[in-house]
Amino acid sequence: MITFNGVDKSFTENRKAVKGLSFTIERGEFFVLIGPSGCGKTTTLKMINRLIDASSGTITINGSPHTDVDIHELRWNIGYVLQQIALFPHLTVAENISVVPEMKKWKQKDIERRVDELLDLVGLDPATYRDRLPEDLSGGQQQRIGVARALAGDPDIILMDEPFSALDPLVREQLQTDIKALQQRIKKTIVFVTHDMREATILGDRIAMMEEGELQQVGTAEELQQNPATPAVSAFMGRYSSQRNLTLKEVFTPTEKSEYIQPKFDTHLQHVQFIVDEHGKSFTTINDGAKQQTVDAIDHSSSIKAAFRFLESNELAAVPIQENGKIIGTVSYKDLARVSIDNQ
Ligand SMILES: Nc1ncnc2c1ncn2[C@@H]1O[C@H](COP(=O)(O)OP(=O)(O)O)[C@@H](O)[C@H]1O
Ligand SMILES: [Mg+2]
Repeated sequence: MITFNGVDKSFTENRKAVKGLSFTIERGEFFVLIGPSGCGKTTTLKMINRLIDASSGTITINGSPHTDVDIHELRWNIGYVLQQIALFPHLTVAENISVVPEMKKWKQKDIERRVDELLDLVGLDPATYRDRLPEDLSGGQQQRIGVARALAGDPDIILMDEPFSALDPLVREQLQTDIKALQQRIKKTIVFVTHDMREATILGDRIAMMEEGELQQVGTAEELQQNPATPAVSAFMGRYSSQRNLTLKEVFTPTEKSEYIQPKFDTHLQHVQFIVDEHGKSFTTINDGAKQQTVDAIDHSSSIKAAFRFLESNELAAVPIQENGKIIGTVSYKDLARVSIDNQ
């Protein structure tokens, strides 16, 4: 658990880069810091591993001020992945990954085992990649090594500062999917900086939005969207969800068996399960059976905006889509959020 208590940082006398930051990141959480360029995201992140020290206020990790811990100890136990792919160019992949375990004086055998395990974990075949130099890897592969290196010393916390923003969109999307799956598997606390709301929505358990050095709101993507706490959040989310004239036909997830579908969506708010009866009527179960509610499927020709409104007013995370009275698929809040950002 990482807690900021009234943290300020000034680089110059008359201006605070971040002001009065107070928030808590839970253990095992995927926590995203978002906001426009210059709002203080990197400064906030770097204060966690003391690459930058706060001017006032305190930061605690698992209850103790992190300034009580030896600074090297602290850094070894916090993985760090940067936007600029920052591998050591003259070291092999294995040597790059081994840096922290070697500083921690692990046994050579354990280090070798760890390198192979991590390469597997980030989706690269150890035998193929362990002895390569960074220059013989694609940008996406280098960033995977960056992630492996950050995990090498088995840290509890991983900080990631716009790690995928230099990559092309397809590679970026794949890495987003992979890092999310990886985090769910290894259950580390990840603090992830981005200025991309779509990325934040895909990855974040919770999102903290900053503007001009101040925290605006912490919540799930849905909470920020539905109940923006400040005009800055509202404007940011409004830009993000400004809809085009797309219809659901372009974005829904088709289902094979139109007479009976049972997709399940896990969101932070609710579990949603659709059951379609023989008359094509769909039942939506929320919170794993705690509450059952019948919703009408929405027509595939509806607009994205109408679908957003429908989900919001019914407090649903997803809804079935119908064409000529037949259920043809589903669309989730996240599906909609993705197309909105894609089409800005
Ligand atoms: N080392 C520094 N010296 C002076 N000003 C800095 C320094 N680092 C960041 N700043 C200023 O602090 C503010 C926040 O920067 P930063 O945390 O890098 O923003 P972000 O990561 O959100 O783009 C900016 O106004 C930036 O110019
Ligand atoms: Mg930054």
